[in-house]
Amino acid sequence: MNGERLVWMNGTLKTDEYAKVPILSHSFSRGSAIFESLGVHESSKGPKAFRLDRHICRLERSAELLGMEMKYCHEEIIEAVSQTVRANNIGRGLIKIMAYWGHEAVVDLVPKGPLDLAIFAIPNGGELHLDEPTPISTCLSKWRKLHPSTVPLEAKAVGNYLNGYLARKDALDRGFDIGLLQDENGFVAEGSTESVFIVKDGSLLTPPLGGILSGISRMTILELVPHLKIPTLEKEIRVEDLRSADEMFTAHSGVKVHPVYKFEEHDFPAPGPITERLMQTMEDVLSFRDDRFSHFFQSL
Ligand SMILES: Cc1ncc(COP(=O)(O)O)c(C=O)c1O
Repeated sequence: MNGERLVWMNGTLKTDEYAKVPILSHSFSRGSAIFESLGVHESSKGPKAFRLDRHICRLERSAELLGMEMKYCHEEIIEAVSQTVRANNIGRGLIKIMAYWGHEAVVDLVPKGPLDLAIFAIPNGGELHLDEPTPISTCLSKWRKLHPSTVPLEAKAVGNYLNGYLARKDALDRGFDIGLLQDENGFVAEGSTESVFIVKDGSLLTPPLGGILSGISRMTILELVPHLKIPTLEKEIRVEDLRSADEMFTAHSGVKVHPVYKFEEHDFPAPGPITERLMQTMEDVLSFRDDRFSHFFQSL
């Protein structure tokens, strides 16, 4: 990145200093913003965004689930992401797309009008540790996952992340990296910002959609496994399954396949053999060495 960060806001590139919203905006004071985070990768043909189309679809779905209206269409968002990445020249990094009601709303609980849009391009480094697969430890969170009848969990909405904040804080306070949340029925749902996978008796298992965010990394792994002939099931997982698993990993946009070395007292090889195959395949995909998956990338 050369110099100051430029943020795309409603069609204009602004320096960080001017990319602001009022504290009393609905999105800040009520937590109603929706967002996406996705990777940008450097290829020999310039920067490419990983699964941008799927991320924009998920953003549009978040808006729909929450009864919100987008201001910009799919194609306009692709162009805006492209402008932001090119203007900031970040190399490997993260794109963050935020859709929000940015005007001051002191008491208005249901604002009208479409959502503002802001796009950030953030280079790897500092707070970001993209692609760093240092194995992590997990525990069962003392907090339960939000119930899907209280808020749509498929919406990637800022307000939902208080649940994730609490789960992560609980885990860190107890000396673990990640807290896994159970749903109301005691099934394992996901981590604060990551999908969860286990390997048991040669099969890969992950919780089904319904009570979790539809992770794009999760979706990508599910698309890769048939090519690797790894038997895979989207299936409810109990806490006992975590304890008797042979391998565990988490999946999110920052580290697509992140090996877990420990669930509470139970140790895992990290990475175990299936996790390692997936890490290798994912690395080939992300390094543009596997042409079968070139459609995962959007040139910017
Ligand atoms: C609750 C939750 N689950 C799963 C994920 C992983 O999703 P993705 O792979 O799209 O990053 C995230 C990402 O932020 C998340 O917040």
